Order: sequence, then structure tokens, then C-alpha cells
Amino acid sequence: LDNGLANVPPLGWSTWNLFWCNTNCTALPDLCVSEKNIKEIADAMVASGLHKLGYDYVNVDDCYLAKERDPVTQKLLPDPVNFPSGMKNLGDYIHGKGLKYGMYNDVGTHTCGGYPGSKDHYALDIATFKEWGVDYLKMDGCYEELPVYHYDYTELHEQIDSQSANIVYECSWPAYVMKPNEFDWAYLRSICNTWRTYGDDIRDNWGSVKSIIEYWATEDIAKYSAPGSFHMADFLTTGQGGMTDDEYRTQFNLWSMWSSPIMLSTDLRNMTAATFDIISNAEVIQTVSQDPLVKQATRVRTINGVDVWVKELVKAHNYAVAFVNMNDTESLSATINFADILPNVQNQEFVVRDLWLHQDLSLAAQSFTSQTLAPHQSQLIKIELNLAAKNMRKEVA
Ligand code: GLA
Ligand code: GLA
Repeated sequence: LDNGLANVPPLGWSTWNLFWCNTNCTALPDLCVSEKNIKEIADAMVASGLHKLGYDYVNVDDCYLAKERDPVTQKLLPDPVNFPSGMKNLGDYIHGKGLKYGMYNDVGTHTCGGYPGSKDHYALDIATFKEWGVDYLKMDGCYEELPVYHYDYTELHEQIDSQSANIVYECSWPAYVMKPNEFDWAYLRSICNTWRTYGDDIRDNWGSVKSIIEYWATEDIAKYSAPGSFHMADFLTTGQGGMTDDEYRTQFNLWSMWSSPIMLSTDLRNMTAATFDIISNAEVIQTVSQDPLVKQATRVRTINGVDVWVKELVKAHNYAVAFVNMNDTESLSATINFADILPNVQNQEFVVRDLWLHQDLSLAAQSFTSQTLAPHQSQLIKIELNLAAKNMRKEVA
């Protein structure tokens, strides 16, 4: 959706994979959906330095609402115990830190967690979100009938538009349909900025991440990625403990390669150095995730059990290439000839830069052999056509 609000994939944080639907703040005071905890996360986003690296969304997911709407006005009400100062106040706090404010609801009668959905209240709810200062809205698809999504998501888009709400609009619609070959992606991206494509929610384990990788590798959806239009690969689980650092790095690399929004769900108040290292790699963020061309990497080869993903970058003759060892037990490496994986390349030499070592590995190569990768480990490189060599050859000829 070309509304100018998100030309490159949004970067930020969401409550979901950390606080889930835990509303009992007596039992888990630091891990419940509450204004206290969300404010602390906003503080940590700035204090940790993540804001300077480009992360700016603080997104409230499900389970922040009171069980019923206001009986008189029908407006959505926040949970009075966990959000005593109200949602506008929370938005003001987040904006006061220079950050952006994300909100969640559902096109159906209820949210997935059973709270009031927006059904039959679309105009009112968009007005309410606007009043709260919401910058980003995820509209989920629970408690709704398949044939009605088209109407629902369109109507909400029109409300956001006609009320000039300036909201980045995330639509969960395709995740409820799960027929990527039949889905009208061109229509979807004319009304939504980003959307969940894969049905199963992410879990903090390799099996879950692997099923997402396989979906993105096999479905023909890359061509719908563009400035303002991003396939959302779900939240990142970095640092939650269910995967190794190699696996978290692979997750971060691929989400960046896919131009997916990067919504962390790790506890920013309490990160290990290893977790911070992964999510703060400025070179990966700037060069790959935030590349203004917003191409979605495709898996071009699987060589010897190693997946090779390629993403075209905005600067002419620049590409990001990720090698991912999908084997569960063996350490492997793969060799690529650039001419085999890139369009219109013959006998040309590339400068190869490793985006985790932060150094150039080779100044002139027609092929490249990855490092030996442990199971589920990845290597992310940027390659750039060596124009100096090219010009030299021309002169010689
Ligand atoms: C669905 C979504 C999740 C999360 C929960 C909230 O399962 O896919 O991302 O928003 O609802 O209940
Ligand atoms: C359903 C109905 C529509 C409209 C919306 C309002 O989608 O089919 O006609 O009433 O609800 O939410």
C-alpha cells in the first residue's frame, strides 16, 4: 500500500511472544500485558541503543482490552487494572520517547484471545485508535467467516484512509486463507502495508522457524514485495532460549533477506550480550533489511544441503546472498558461481563482504565458497560487481 508511511520494512517490538495473553499482573508482574511493562520496554528500546539503529515501533498485541465495550458509547476500553492511565496516555509516553505506537484488534467479533473484536464497529474503532495516537495497526482474523474477509479488510482500509488516521496497516487475512497460489496478492497489497502469509504462529524452536523458511522458499510470493508492501514472517523470537545463537542469527538474516518487518519479542530490559549482538547488527539492518528496493530474497539453489538465498539490492549490481545449512547434524559448506545464480552475469568479478565479520573477504571473485557452517548456521554476504576490474578488461580489449 503506497501511503508513504512505511517505505522500508518497519522495525520494532511486540508484546506477543513475550507477554502472550498473560493479564494476571499479580502472578507475573514483569511479564504481563500492562502499561508498566510496555513503558519499560519503550525505555529500554531507547536506552539500549536499538532506537538509534532504526527500531521504533512498540506494538501492543492481544489482551489489553476490557472484556466488554463501553455500554453507552460502544467504544473499546482498556483493561482497567493493567492500563489504569488509558491507551492514549501510553501512546503519549511512547511518542515522548521518539518512538511509534502499535495496536492490535481483529476484524471478527472477538480477538483471538477472546476480547472484543471490531466487527460492526469499524468506523468507531478507527476513530478510537486515531484518538489514542496509534501509528500501526495489526488486524487479526479470528472469529470471522472466510468469505467476509474481503469486505472487512477493505472497509477498514477505507476507514483508515477516509479518517486520515496515518496508520501502517497489517492484515492477517492471507494467514487465515493459506492458499498462496489462489490468493489475490495484488489486491491485498493495494489495501494493506503488510500481512501475515503463513498460518501457524511462530514458536521459539527450530522446527517452527524451519516450517516458515520452507513456506517462503517454495511459495511464489516474492514478486509482491515492494516499498510499502511487505510479507510479514511473524515475530522474531531472538534470545528467548529455545534456539541456539546460530539459529537466532539465521532467523535474523532471513527476515532481513525477505524484507519482512522485524518485530522483536525479546525482553529488551534484560538481554544477554549475544542477543543484543544479533539484533543490533547495523550492517545487516542497513544493507539488507532496510534496503530501499524492498526485494524479497528467493531461494535460488540448494547445494549440498545448504540453501542459497539471493536478494537484489538498490545499488546497481549489488546483491545480498545468504547460505543456510538446513542439515540437522552435519557441518557443510557450498560453492556458488555468481554467473549461475545472478541474471546477466558472465565471467564477471565481485567484491565479497561478510556482513557479520564486517570485512571484505575477496576483492575479485567469480565464485565463492561459504565458510563451513554448523547445522542451522548461516553466512550472510554482500556481493558487488567489481567495476574497476570490469573497466580494466574493457580497456585491455
Ligand atoms: C493470533 C496471531 C498471533 C497473536 C495472537 C493473539 O494467533 O496469529 O500473532 O496476535 O492471535 O491472540
Ligand atoms: C459484515 C457484513 C457487512 C457489514 C460488516 C460491518 O461484514 O457482511 O455488511 O455490516 O459486517 O462490520
